[in-house]
Amino acid sequence: MIFGVILAGGIGSRMGNVEKPKQFLTVGEKPIIIHTIEKFYVNDSFEKLIVLCPAQWVSHTKNLVKKYLKDEDRIVVIEGGSTRNETIMNSIRYIEENYTLDDDTIIVTHDSVRPFVTYRIIEDNIRYALEYGACDTVIPATDTIVESDDSNIIASVPDRSKMYQGQTPQSFKAKKLKDMYNALTEEEKEILTDAAKIFVIKGEPVYLVEGEVFNIKITYPYDLRVAETLIEGDK
Ligand code: CTP
Repeated sequence: MIFGVILAGGIGSRMGNVEKPKQFLTVGEKPIIIHTIEKFYVNDSFEKLIVLCPAQWVSHTKNLVKKYLKDEDRIVVIEGGSTRNETIMNSIRYIEENYTLDDDTIIVTHDSVRPFVTYRIIEDNIRYALEYGACDTVIPATDTIVESDDSNIIASVPDRSKMYQGQTPQSFKAKKLKDMYNALTEEEKEILTDAAKIFVIKGEPVYLVEGEVFNIKITYPYDLRVAETLIEGDK
């Protein structure tokens, strides 16, 4: 079975003092999270879409889903976790409690604040995860990436042709992800902010899916303005 996992458990601190987490802000006349859910909703491969948000926003999110998607069967809203990876683990727990978690259970995890993901990217994620067990959506780095250990001087300048910027979705065989995550120490869990990295440090291959430059993550107030412009262009 294949599940869509919409990660909305964050509070959006980099957005500044806004009245609600950024995923609930309105862009193009709808909350960002609704634009994102819609992109997954049109794909029939998903048994269920699991939307995870902070506890105090669960009922608000349920109301939004009811209002905009009018569906309470294929979309479930539950509480996220204290970190992004813990939010992903909550989605796997939900699958275990309501379905069976077997070796072929796939989760396509996606940031709720990337509303410009395409049908093609989602399809490629499903295909790669089924075939290879793990994949990550990326675009080639356009700027040169510079590494610094102390924020003062350059430690290295990696070859740009080998550098990519990570986007989402990131898709995995859910049982494998869970088993590897649970085998990490608490310290390892704290520094592993990226789910794909869990596979990488265990030496498991993560295949690259081609993203899109416009599959931006809405992070700062500036991104909201870009998002408004992109949505205008979509109309
Ligand atoms: N996320 C999540 N659970 C968490 C933290 C983050 O599901 N405990 C989600 C966010 O809601 C977002 C996505 O992960 O959709 C990408 O994270 P990011 O852009 O860093 O979101 P925030 O953590 O909300 O933002 P900030 O870092 O500015 O506080």
